[in-house]
Amino acid sequence: MSNSVIAPSILAADFARLADSAAAVEGSADWLHVDVMDYHFVPNLTIGLPVVQSLRKATTLPFDCHLMIADPARWAPQYAEAGAYNVTFHAEAATDPAAIAKDLRAAGSRAGLAIDRDTPVEGYLDLLPHFDLLLIMTIKAGFGGQAFIPELLDKVRAARRHVDTGHLELRIEVDGGVAEDTIAACAEAGADTFVAGTAVFGAEDPAAAVRRLRALASG
Ligand code: DX5
Ligand code: ZN
Repeated sequence: MSNSVIAPSILAADFARLADSAAAVEGSADWLHVDVMDYHFVPNLTIGLPVVQSLRKATTLPFDCHLMIADPARWAPQYAEAGAYNVTFHAEAATDPAAIAKDLRAAGSRAGLAIDRDTPVEGYLDLLPHFDLLLIMTIKAGFGGQAFIPELLDKVRAARRHVDTGHLELRIEVDGGVAEDTIAACAEAGADTFVAGTAVFGAEDPAAAVRRLRALASG
């Protein structure tokens, strides 16, 4: 399997000190996970394009933008243009996910497809050749700090089987409640990319927390 990617989520960081939070995990984390919420697709409101544009200049970490927004066809490519390494949008919000993936790649980023808690993954497996990443939520999207739902790892197992038998070049990411007590189960189920908010920025030493998570993910 490919190397683990650890992507701390700045949703759990101090929003008045985002650059400092990014700096705290530069050198230990692989990507910085940026949760964009629009108060429509999810009931929470976080950050948008201007913050991503400013933060892009403040760190060298690649951005893993997770768009929990309505109408990703309209907005997602702008995050690619802002310099995101990967832009993930929700399957539930998209009418033509493959077309958005194509636009994202044309705009210079990788394309990710996210599957929320209540969405079965099976209907999307045939679309995966258009994507670089599949995000399986391990909570209901919308808020940090929720309890991990182990049953959702069945979707990770199904996706891993499909990716391996089809020889697809695709990362499988988990997001929600990923922490020291849950990350090994995620890796075992077939995830290779791990988002962690509270487990990293809620820790006294975020860089040390990333290193511990990476060790646990590698078994
Ligand atoms: C929630 C976000 C997550 C969130 C995870 O909808 O997508 O990325 O930051 O937070 P933790 O790791 O605290 O569950
Ligand atoms: Zn997220």
